[in-house]
Order: sequence, then structure tokens, then C-alpha cells
Amino acid sequence: MDKILRHAREHGEIFEALSFFNKAASVAEGKKALDSLPGINRLFSRDIANHLRFEESRIFSLVLNNGGLKDKCIIRALQHEHIDILEKIDEFKELFAGGSFAPEDKQRAKGLVELSREIINMMLTHSRKEDRELFPVFKRLGYSLEGKEKA
Ligand SMILES: [Fe+2]
Ligand SMILES: [Fe+2]
Repeated sequence: MDKILRHAREHGEIFEALSFFNKAASVAEGKKALDSLPGINRLFSRDIANHLRFEESRIFSLVLNNGGLKDKCIIRALQHEHIDILEKIDEFKELFAGGSFAPEDKQRAKGLVELSREIINMMLTHSRKEDRELFPVFKRLGYSLEGKEKA
């Protein structure tokens, strides 16, 4: 399968996971949201962090080295968004690692749910922007994710 398509499908999987957690997080009070926090933590600190790293090393670098001025502008904006997302994930991880989910710690759980909702929204907006702006550029430049290759 075309590597770009595979990457786009990965975006689809991320959308699915995110909308699932978005639903869970919408139950801001109650046990359901708290139960979903370890899964959300894994999604943020492992899956999403890996996804961003992969894009930076395999996709952004190629466009920065070979694209025109307009293409580079798109990448710079996406790089900024990655930094903003990673900063929020750091915040989430720190709060997640910092204590229990005991009933008396309701404030912390609420903070985690709020942060997760913020990160999810940032990721959804960001991934849609990539689908819309980045992948057409990448394809136009004639690359697959395995290296230089005319489409
Ligand atoms: Fe990205
Ligand atoms: Fe992405």
C-alpha cells in the first residue's frame, strides 16, 4: 500500500481513538472518565508522541529540504503546533504521575479530564490541517514515506 495512504489511515485511527476518548472525557464527573485516564495517558505519551516524532523525522524534513517557500511555511506552522501539543502532553503526564484518583483528589481528576479534552481538540484540528495541507504537498513533491520516489 502507498505509504502516504498508510499514514492517512493512521490519521483515521487517531481520529477514532480520539473521538472515543473525547466521549469518555465528556463525562467529566463520575467514574467513567477516571477509568479512561490511564488509556488516555498511553495514547498521549506513547502513540501520539511517536506519531509526531515520525512526521518530523520522515515527512517534515523532506519538505523543508525540497519544498518551496510556501511549502516550508506550512511545515513551520505544523512544527509549532507539534511543540504546543507536546507541551500540553508534558503537563498532562506530570499531573497524571502526581497522585491518586481518590475521591478527595477530585480537583486533580478534573484537571486531567480538562487537559485531555484540550489535547484531543488540538490533535483533531492539527491532523485535519495535515490531511488538508501537508499530504498534497508531500505527494506533489513526489515522495513516499520510504524516501524519494516519483508518485
Ligand atoms: Fe503532525
Ligand atoms: Fe499527523
